[in-house]
Amino acid sequence: MKDKINELKKEFEVKVNEIKTMKELNDLKTLYLGKKGPVAELSSMMRELSVEEKKEFGSLLNGLKQELNLSINNVRARLEEEELNRRLESEKIDITLPSTKVNFGSVHPLTKVIDEIEELFISMGYDVVEGPEVETDMYNFEKLNLPKGHPARDAQDSFYITEELLLRTQTSPVQARVMDANTEKSSIRVICPGKVYRRDDDDATHSHQFTQIEGLVIDKDISLAHLKGTLEVFAKKLFGEDREIRLRPSFFPFTEPSLEVDVSCSKCGGSGCPVCKGTGWIEILGSGMVHPNVLRNCGYDPEVYTGFAFGIGPERVAMLKYGISDIRAFYTNDMRFLNDFNRVEGSDK
Ligand code: DAH
Repeated sequence: MKDKINELKKEFEVKVNEIKTMKELNDLKTLYLGKKGPVAELSSMMRELSVEEKKEFGSLLNGLKQELNLSINNVRARLEEEELNRRLESEKIDITLPSTKVNFGSVHPLTKVIDEIEELFISMGYDVVEGPEVETDMYNFEKLNLPKGHPARDAQDSFYITEELLLRTQTSPVQARVMDANTEKSSIRVICPGKVYRRDDDDATHSHQFTQIEGLVIDKDISLAHLKGTLEVFAKKLFGEDREIRLRPSFFPFTEPSLEVDVSCSKCGGSGCPVCKGTGWIEILGSGMVHPNVLRNCGYDPEVYTGFAFGIGPERVAMLKYGISDIRAFYTNDMRFLNDFNRVEGSDK
């Protein structure tokens, strides 16, 4: 009996040490400790033994069971640890792997320039006012001293919707709207940003839709000197102290006298290129003293009030500031172009 137990123990130890999986371990346990296994068989043999023998054999058999269970538990613990290590290895997070790129949007270069211009004029006490893009012929032209049949209308080839309605060709109608709306007929200081539309063929410097920022100052004793001073502040702030500026006499029906402001071309530095059409200068705004007829059309007495007005082209300003050679780049949403401006404000990146 004793020999049998020792033999069984040895045999079991060899087998249990070869175990690789939980399933194998459970099968082995059933094989040796199950109802039909050798241990159960030995137990059933007890019946035929004497009381004395039973005592001795019984304790040997219990010892055998305990040892087998201990071995099984040891192997189970080893297998569980191996399994845990395998999972830790396979589920390990590699923090050195490059992560998914997060894309940030950014302020459009044109919007940036418009914001900058707005901030400048707000700092000088101007209000920002907007007007409708679908405008009446009355405000877009008539109130601005451009009656029907006036030759200057041809310079702004328009998208008419009806005889009386059109897509505004300029932001100047907002001037007239602000003056009309001022029932007290008191002083005014506003800028009016917005989109305008013209039946132009698109090329590097023209677009059928673009933006303008209108400026209007009305008060007693406003003179050309105020206009010049304001434009100088504007040009220096936007383009830097070192940029050259040129004022040219010009003509607009709604101003008298009228003048145009040019800035030296950033692309060629003044020698002439396609951006400046070979002149070395880029026109950035038209301006002048508000025509007495316009004041009168909007209920102001030109004997009491005078004023100046200007119309800025933000696209031209942005092209100059950032060295952009084609106006169409602002509208086509090409990511390669936009990414050039994809910088967080205030960062050095
Ligand atoms: N409205 C003019 C244009 O679109 C620009 C302009 C010129 C606006 C002179 C003004 C001004 O207010 O005084 O060409």
